[in-house]
Amino acid sequence: MNSNTEFKRHRRLRSSNSMRAMVRETHLHVEDFIYPMFVVEGSNVKNEVPSMPGVYQVSMDLLLDEVKEVVELGIKSIILFGVPNDKDEVGTGAFIETGIVQEATRLIKRAYPEILIVADTCLCEYTSHGHCGVIHDHDVDNDESLQLLARTAVSQAEAGADIIAPSNMMDGFVKVIRQALDEAGFTNIPIMSYAVKYASAFYGPFRDAADSTPQFGDRKSYQMDPANRLEALREAESDVVEGADFLIVKPALSYLDIVRDVRNHFNLPVVAYNVSGEYSMVKAAALNGWIEEKSLVMEKLTSMKRAGADLIITYFAKDVAKWLKEEN
Ligand code: PBG
Repeated sequence: MNSNTEFKRHRRLRSSNSMRAMVRETHLHVEDFIYPMFVVEGSNVKNEVPSMPGVYQVSMDLLLDEVKEVVELGIKSIILFGVPNDKDEVGTGAFIETGIVQEATRLIKRAYPEILIVADTCLCEYTSHGHCGVIHDHDVDNDESLQLLARTAVSQAEAGADIIAPSNMMDGFVKVIRQALDEAGFTNIPIMSYAVKYASAFYGPFRDAADSTPQFGDRKSYQMDPANRLEALREAESDVVEGADFLIVKPALSYLDIVRDVRNHFNLPVVAYNVSGEYSMVKAAALNGWIEEKSLVMEKLTSMKRAGADLIITYFAKDVAKWLKEEN
């Protein structure tokens, strides 16, 4: 064929590894990742979550070994979830000074002051009914729940949390938590808001890990309808106005259009939460030999950044950190 053709030769820029690296538009860095950890009561507990191979519930005495591994891999941030034995109607365990997340935060900060601790601010792991707030007449009471969530955030900050991440989807939570943090003197503690959180079947395995399945009903009166896109912008907008410092979109993979919308409309750092179900599906397929795990994980995390995420909360953080190290 004549070399003076009239079509564009896109393959020129794909001709070698070096060429592809030169024109690559999106990169993953170890700094992009926040690693979720589940802390339980008792001692010498390291329970693998059955639906999440490679993810463990860990007791306080073994926690520092886990964090050490995370720190050595170069990961800069973890998000903590507490799984208490005793729960009650109002989720007291979430906001007491001796709560699991508060104790774990103090312990980790003493040993590794440089690691950034994100505290998930919600009540569902601590309430006997498994909902994210206080129940009245079979529904979550928004304004009463806000008071307890604000107390939770302040107690997490008092314990040394670096970032407060409210995941409860009550209206006004950013405003009330910002006010409470400021009044308690924590004006410099940022809020990473779960601004756009859908009522998703992808959270199933997390609810095993955190023992937070609602005991009646579902979360559809506070988490968003997966069918909605404009509503995501309304949610994000009010959080921006109320003082959020980061915006989380959750889940990630089926919601990359929303990640892009939020990226385009707001100028805060955008965080994609690559949730439990997204992890479990990949793990299950990989364990069956049906997919190539490393390539698939790198591809999907890259797609989240390409969609506009600055940061990714993911159970794959340790794996990716290892793979990135091997590549260098
Ligand atoms: C707490 C919370 C949930 C997740 C993060 N924070 C569960 C839920 O809303 O049911 C889900 C995370 C995951 O699936 O990995 N409200």
